[in-house]
Amino acid sequence: MEASLNPELTNLSLEQLRLRRSAKWRYYDEDVLPAWVAEMDFPLAAPVKIALAEAVELDDTGYGYPDPLGLAAAFADFAKARLGWEVDPAGVGSIPDVVNGLTSVLRLISKPGDRVIINTPVYHPFFGIIEELGCELAEVPLVDGELDVDAIDAEFRRGAVAIILCSPHNPMGTLPTEAQLGALAACAAANGAWVLSDEIHWPLTLPGARHVPFLSVSPEARERGIAFVSASKAFNLAGLCCAQTVTASERAAELIAKLPFAAAHAGHLGLLATVAAYRDGAPWLDDVIAVLDHNRALLADLLAAKLPEVAYAPPRAGYLAWLDLRPLDLGEDPSEALLERGRVALNAGPTFGPQGRGFARLNIGTSPALVEEAVKRIGEAVGR
Ligand SMILES: Cc1ncc(COP(=O)(O)O)c(C=O)c1O
Repeated sequence: MEASLNPELTNLSLEQLRLRRSAKWRYYDEDVLPAWVAEMDFPLAAPVKIALAEAVELDDTGYGYPDPLGLAAAFADFAKARLGWEVDPAGVGSIPDVVNGLTSVLRLISKPGDRVIINTPVYHPFFGIIEELGCELAEVPLVDGELDVDAIDAEFRRGAVAIILCSPHNPMGTLPTEAQLGALAACAAANGAWVLSDEIHWPLTLPGARHVPFLSVSPEARERGIAFVSASKAFNLAGLCCAQTVTASERAAELIAKLPFAAAHAGHLGLLATVAAYRDGAPWLDDVIAVLDHNRALLADLLAAKLPEVAYAPPRAGYLAWLDLRPLDLGEDPSEALLERGRVALNAGPTFGPQGRGFARLNIGTSPALVEEAVKRIGEAVGR
C-alpha cells in the first residue's frame, strides 16, 4: 500500500527529527513523541530548500519586497491551478502571519465590547485574539462538524461585528459547503458584519473533499469577506513568518490598506520560500497529500484494532486528527495522562473550547511509522 508513497516523506528518522529546534521538538523532554503543534515532519520541498539556500549564499537576508518577487501573481496562479479560484493579484497583500493578520484586521473593525463569533471547538489562538482586543466572545459551536448558519445569523442580528471562520476547520478537519458559505455571506452582509476567513489549511484538502474559497461564493462574500492564506501549513514554513490577505472588493481592500506598517510586512526569507512553494511546490504537495491520505486511513485502522472505543472522523483536509477519548475515562484533558503515562504529546482538547473536554488533537503530518508509534504510546497509557 505504501509503495506508491514518496519514500522521502515516509522514511523519517526520529533521531534526525530530534535535531530540529522548533517548538514541536523542544517543548517536551527527549523521551516524549511530539504529536501536537501544527508542524509537519516531512523534509522541505526541494524548490523551497533551493530558494532558501540561494538567499543564504547571496547573504540576501534583508527586508522583504513582495511585488518584485511576484508573490501576488504566484499565489493567484497557485489558487487557479489547485482550486480553479480566480484571484486578482491586486487583491493579495502581505502579512507576517495569519494570527497577526486576523488580530490587526479585527482591531480595525471592532471596538472593545463588540461581539465576535467563532465556531467551537476551534483553533485556540482565536480566543486570545478576541480577548486581547477586549471584544466579547460569541461562541457558535459546530453541529456535527458543520457550520450552524442560523445560529450565526442570530448572533449577527444581536450585533456581532465579525466572524473568524476556520475553513478548512481546525481541529475537526471539516469543510463548509458552498451553500453554507453563501448563506453566511448573505447574513453577514445583511447585518453589516465582516467575515474573516482563515483558509490556511486549504492547500492540504484531501482526496474526496472540495475546498470552497469564501470569496468565490457571491458578490456579498467579496464585499464582506477577507481571506487569510499562507504556504506555512502546506509547506511547513511557519517559522518563516509569511502569510497573505486576499480581498476582492474595494471595501475590503480599503480596510487592508489601513493596516499598520508592522502588520503588513512579511519576512524576506518567508517571501522567497513562499514564492518558490507556490510556483514550483505542487509535485511535493501532491506527495504530501498522498501520505496524509494514507495516514488518516491508517489511524482509523490502528484505533479500530487497539482502541475501538475512541471516536475519530478522519480529517477531510490537513493533518490534525480530533480524537474523542471520553470513553477512556481520562478526565477533561486526556492529553495529560497520555503525556505522563504514554510519553506522547497531543494538544489538549479543552484549549479548543468547552466542547473539547475529553478530546485531544493528534498530529499525523509525519511518517506512517510515527503515526503507529503515537497510537502505540496512547495505547500504553491506558494499558493496552
Ligand atoms: C486555523 C489556523 N490558523 C492560523 C494558524 C497559524 O498561522 P500563522 O502561523 O500564520 O499565524 C494555524 C496554525 O496551526 C491554524 O491552524
